Amino acid sequence: MQTDSSFTFVLFGGTGDLSMRKILPALYEAHRAGGMLADSGKIVAVARHAADRGEYIQWVNEHVKPHVSKNGVDATAWSSFLERIEFVKIDLGNPEDFALLRDAVKDLPGIRVFYLATGPSLFVPICRALASVGLNENARIVLEKPLGYDLKSSNAINDAVGEIFAEEQIYRIDHYLGKEPVQNLLALRFGNALFEPLWRREWVESIQITIAEELGVEARGDFYDNTGALRDMVQNHLLQLLSIVAMEPPHSMDSDSVRDEKLRVLRALKPIDPLDIGKVAVRGQYHSGVIRGTAVPAYATEPGVKPNSTTETFVALKVEIENWRWAGVPFFLRTGKRLADRVAEIVVNFRAVPHSALGASALRAGANRLVIRLQPNETIRLYCLAKQPGEGMNLASVHLDLAFDQFFREGQMEAYQRLLLDVINGRLALFVRRDEQEAAWRWVEPILNEWKASNKPPKPYAAGTWGPAAASAMLAQHGTCWLEEEN
Ligand code: BG6
Repeated sequence: MQTDSSFTFVLFGGTGDLSMRKILPALYEAHRAGGMLADSGKIVAVARHAADRGEYIQWVNEHVKPHVSKNGVDATAWSSFLERIEFVKIDLGNPEDFALLRDAVKDLPGIRVFYLATGPSLFVPICRALASVGLNENARIVLEKPLGYDLKSSNAINDAVGEIFAEEQIYRIDHYLGKEPVQNLLALRFGNALFEPLWRREWVESIQITIAEELGVEARGDFYDNTGALRDMVQNHLLQLLSIVAMEPPHSMDSDSVRDEKLRVLRALKPIDPLDIGKVAVRGQYHSGVIRGTAVPAYATEPGVKPNSTTETFVALKVEIENWRWAGVPFFLRTGKRLADRVAEIVVNFRAVPHSALGASALRAGANRLVIRLQPNETIRLYCLAKQPGEGMNLASVHLDLAFDQFFREGQMEAYQRLLLDVINGRLALFVRRDEQEAAWRWVEPILNEWKASNKPPKPYAAGTWGPAAASAMLAQHGTCWLEEEN
């Protein structure tokens, strides 16, 4: 596929962690693959920690190269990639410096993309400074999460950015939407006739969505301690996954058809009653423990974290969707750091047969279950009941597996690569629209407020486990349990 969408990709925060680990490696991969980026496309890095282009290129060689491609770096592709890179030294606190940027990009070709890989406090000043030199015209702006701290602060950013850029110029990143398996979820639901008739309250008993991490807060203790798992993972990634799992079939895959359907789900989330919060929400914080044989410290002793911190590193929720398709079906969401395994998956538990002609053993063997493993090892596993060999009619749960890497050995794309190509090519479907973001904040905020008001500390859990026991007790009340299989 040869593209002729020329572009000038301006990267604010050009020496930041995200640029180093994700954005520049993703642009390199797209460049190396050939045909995905127009030959004339340029990358203009903006930073103040390098003196000139030479110093910046040296930084890219030292810091970005190690994050590029599991298969190693192709020397020819790498050197032609570096030729795409220009550099402008700007002090973001000094709006006059933006004249330098205007001069640097004025003769460069194609659509202009401004990627703000900076802290959110800089979003509005950067947008205003871009507008002051006329660079907001016909451009696209990419905003990284976290976009605000709550509904009010996210509205303040969106209002200010919205005065400068129209909604269709704004690309809000949720990198989960760029993951191949999340795309596959759309393919599974809307490309197969098999599942759709069953994808509803009549046949589904409950749904679980888990994003579990083994990692702790790494070098981001300070940021994380002011954020917590609900803001960091639930408000965005988990609610986006939930809306894709639960949405009605869109009439097409164009950006607003998909986003309209996701929005309907977010707006149909049953508001959490503060009096019920203890029954439907569990918050936890990890203590020291052992992960894969290595001792790891407690959250409260991580660098940047307050020793008496009450920030949650684990959340489990019971969510309901108030619409015809899902009324009464519990959706259990769970995420946490320093858990027993790194896994992201969606589990659809189907109802048992209404009448078992096969006798009691059939009922004991359980019911159908579909497990969509997003990472690691993307697979879809369908549990069915089968007769155990031998005499009598004894059933056992067995499974059919679809391992994607057995079918598609090549062509996998990292989330950031897909999303950056979408920005350059003007495809908005995988970016979060403002109304979706607002609906997600509106639903999450009462939980945050209640936790703050109640002043109760999060429940402790040992690192390397699956979180506080209360998370399992919440499911037990509904006669179910979390699916926790070995990778
Ligand atoms: C980020 C969160 O959005 O997602 C991190 O800020 C988290 O705390 C990360 O570790 C998880 O992403 P992934 O792609 O590694 O599952």
